[in-house]
Amino acid sequence: QNNKTLISINKSENAPVISKHIYGHFAEHLGRCIYEGFFVGDTSKIPNINGVRKDIIEALRELKIPNLRWPGGCFADTYHWKDGIGPRENRPTIVNKWWGGVTEDNSFGTHDFLNMCEILETEPYLSGNVGSGTVQELADWVQYTNFGGKSPMSDLRKANGREEPWKVTYWGIGNEAWGCGGNMTADYYANEYRKYATFISDWENTGDIKRIASGANSNDYKWTETLMKNIPGRMLGGLALHHYSVIDWEKKGDAVSFTEKQYFQTMTEALKMEELVTKHAAIMDTYDPNKKIDLVVDEWGGWYEVEKGTNPGFLYQQNTMRDAVLAGTTLNIFNNHADRVRMANLAQCVNVLQAVILTDKAKMILTPTYHIMKMYNVHQDAQLLPISFTSPLYTLNNETLPALSVSASKDKQGVKHISFVNIDANKEHTIKMDCSILNIKKISGTILTSKHIQDHNSFDEPNKIEPKIFNTFTFKKDELELTIPPFSVVVIEAK
Ligand code: AHR
Repeated sequence: QNNKTLISINKSENAPVISKHIYGHFAEHLGRCIYEGFFVGDTSKIPNINGVRKDIIEALRELKIPNLRWPGGCFADTYHWKDGIGPRENRPTIVNKWWGGVTEDNSFGTHDFLNMCEILETEPYLSGNVGSGTVQELADWVQYTNFGGKSPMSDLRKANGREEPWKVTYWGIGNEAWGCGGNMTADYYANEYRKYATFISDWENTGDIKRIASGANSNDYKWTETLMKNIPGRMLGGLALHHYSVIDWEKKGDAVSFTEKQYFQTMTEALKMEELVTKHAAIMDTYDPNKKIDLVVDEWGGWYEVEKGTNPGFLYQQNTMRDAVLAGTTLNIFNNHADRVRMANLAQCVNVLQAVILTDKAKMILTPTYHIMKMYNVHQDAQLLPISFTSPLYTLNNETLPALSVSASKDKQGVKHISFVNIDANKEHTIKMDCSILNIKKISGTILTSKHIQDHNSFDEPNKIEPKIFNTFTFKKDELELTIPPFSVVVIEAK
């Protein structure tokens, strides 16, 4: 039996704007994300602009990616940016300690990344090395990228062919300081942060730099509390949070051949994001009641076993309808918490973890997660429309999860978008929505759905899963009624 779920849209004058930066991405020097992913080099037969694949550039521009985090991840705390500037033949090689122990030749460095961001029309988010770097090194990087006047680092930048500074706003002060970033205690890191943040000045004093502290691992609320207590608010632009949807770190399960039980477990982990952002935000509220500091979920996504036959250190995995449902649900959570969650980065963009793009030599495919990110980009910088409803339950082996996830917004042109996810692997769910306060004349919809939850796009069948027109709704007397198939995502546009 399919009981109808009633959803109300509430008045929104004071609702926050959903920052476009919630739709951010992440590119680490890990596996085939940069090399053989984004960057093939300018002598490659694969069409490229300055060595960056043209097909990837086009796909990411379509997605309207608002920011891109680089160069890590764990790699960031081993990275010395001066190794990646100047003539390529003079750049030193290093060992990528965290990811497969492979040789990193530094052929993709600061200029390559920041110029690529300009082509992608996206904002760079640079992760600074706190774990094995120095304050001077990070301060120099800021001067190199951001200072327009005469200085040792801006002269060096100019000598390397770039006259104007790139003006990077987002700076991460280390990554996972509690783990690969140095195994620090929260108290120790808070002091390190204060020292680094002091010397990462905005070289032109425009106040445009946002410093982001390395944040908690999932539910480590003590970490957030310690940082909020010990770092003066004026030094903190954002506080990070990392949460991956992993069934069990010892037994992560296959990315494609999974059971419904494993699907349920992944979704349980994904839905924890609601509790995590609620509780971390509540701690932040105590110290920052005016919500000046952003909660930055700069790593999130599904994490499974690597694809058989691939390097275990490369974290290459396929991407199925499970990931589409995970992405839609997580983005709904972020949208609904837009008052505090103002930035997030899906891990990772190309060929790593929950990627939006997979490549195999000259071939490239878009994953179901890519399509969700594209369907949802209508929420970028739109005003949240708060909604309320009681979700039906998705039950498996006497355990339950809310079956429905929803968020809504109104963009600058007054167009409304509502994104619905049916998490239930077996049952369709029908929704009735009173839209009287929205003054709607015309409705259209898009759906991402497939026969099996394990379905995915492959290099042989790249377009198996694609968004389709969704028009099986009714709209009468200001009431919208629609039925969402199992494990599907629908975005409704209302004008
Ligand atoms: O995204 C892969 C890794 O996961 C990142 O390098 C690290 O920050 C996290 O542990």
